[in-house]
Amino acid sequence: MNVPDFFFRFRDALNAFLYTKILKNIFFMIDPETVHETMTRVGVFLGAHAITRGVTACFFYYSNKKLNQTIRGIFFSNPIGLAAGFDKDAQLTDILPALGFGFAEAGSITGEACVGNPRPRLWRLKKSKGLMIHYGLKNEGCERIAERLRDKHFQIPMGMSIAKTNCQKTVDLQAGIDDYFKAFTALKDLGNYCTINISCPNAFGGQPFTDPVSLDLLLAKIDTAQTSKPIFLKLSPDLKKEEIDAIIEVTKRHKIFGFICSNLTKNRDNKKIIDSTVSEKGGMSGKVVEDLSNELIRYCYQKTKGAYVIIGCGGVFSAEDAYKKIKAGASLVQMITGMIFEGPQVISQINRGLVALLEKDGFENIAEAIGGDYESPRRTSGRLRENSTEFSCASMVLGWCFTPQLTPEL
Ligand SMILES: Cc1cc2nc3c(=O)[nH]c(=O)nc-3n(C[C@H](O)[C@H](O)[C@H](O)COP(=O)(O)O)c2cc1C
Repeated sequence: MNVPDFFFRFRDALNAFLYTKILKNIFFMIDPETVHETMTRVGVFLGAHAITRGVTACFFYYSNKKLNQTIRGIFFSNPIGLAAGFDKDAQLTDILPALGFGFAEAGSITGEACVGNPRPRLWRLKKSKGLMIHYGLKNEGCERIAERLRDKHFQIPMGMSIAKTNCQKTVDLQAGIDDYFKAFTALKDLGNYCTINISCPNAFGGQPFTDPVSLDLLLAKIDTAQTSKPIFLKLSPDLKKEEIDAIIEVTKRHKIFGFICSNLTKNRDNKKIIDSTVSEKGGMSGKVVEDLSNELIRYCYQKTKGAYVIIGCGGVFSAEDAYKKIKAGASLVQMITGMIFEGPQVISQINRGLVALLEKDGFENIAEAIGGDYESPRRTSGRLRENSTEFSCASMVLGWCFTPQLTPEL
């Protein structure tokens, strides 16, 4: 039995109403980190049981064949992923597929456990539709997290984001490289891809690995670890063009498969900041970083002539926002802030909206739209398929309850 589209439209509209009119108003009265911790506990509970996973899927899951893509042998059922920073300790891997994510990234995870910066370290920029983040890479450390994930079967592709431990010791170049390497080797056999986060705005010693000489040394060390998994570099949106060029030149000499564009911005002169009070510390997400992220996607895609896979990240709140990134050159898209402002049903809304946008532009599949801004659209013969949802309600629920491993290993 195919589920008719009006069911999803009605379900998502109802969820959106309940979230934006009731739940969000309550959440936004409470300290954001407390809400995050509570939601993580709820997510862990829902992910632990087959029935609760199935019920969650009924409320949030959506799938359409037009959104399927295989990149470097990894099957993505849709291009919308959870960005690094929401599931810092990889506790939510069981529930994220039921929410409708096509992939997710855990972390950032560091060589040593780290308590992060003192609280408060997370603020809402309500008017600007963004967050101010000064977490400082809080996480349980690579050994504990690797142990937790050892026997897990992931239902969607999982990325492991690594960074260097936020402490005085790793400010030393070699100590920093050793710390990244420790996290990389502990996690390299888990999940489907790895991200090297060189753009955390909130750590001791700044972002030393945006310097090409230091980056070259770091990536040379990473090259020595045997892995066939694709490696992404996560870039800052505040980099100058010359700095991006230098980073791209370095990556050509190493096993880098793509870029994540982008991390948080630190630039307080940003015209998208509407809120009158902005903390002196931390990086900003959401609508504040959106244009910078899109510019970075465009620049990297054009500079490398599409040779690297780009994951677009920053300010995605709607299908139009995600589509803009895809047409600018992103193969996949990640988000956090949009989900916090709009509710978890926004993942389904974005995916449904993407299907409609693909059909409007005459694309058969999401892959055809990547970089569509730069070339004449690869239109099909005009014989567009009907927007049918390619699964049954029963298989959806049973799938998320019991399917052991949908993601082909590399
Ligand atoms: C609470 C929070 C924590 C974050 N922590 C990390 C992190 O540990 N590592 C990382 O690479 N990015 C981190 N980020 C940045 C996000 O991955 C993403 O690049 C940024 O938020 C822009 O996307 P968005 O506008 O959809 O939130 C964090 C973001 C938020 C909101």
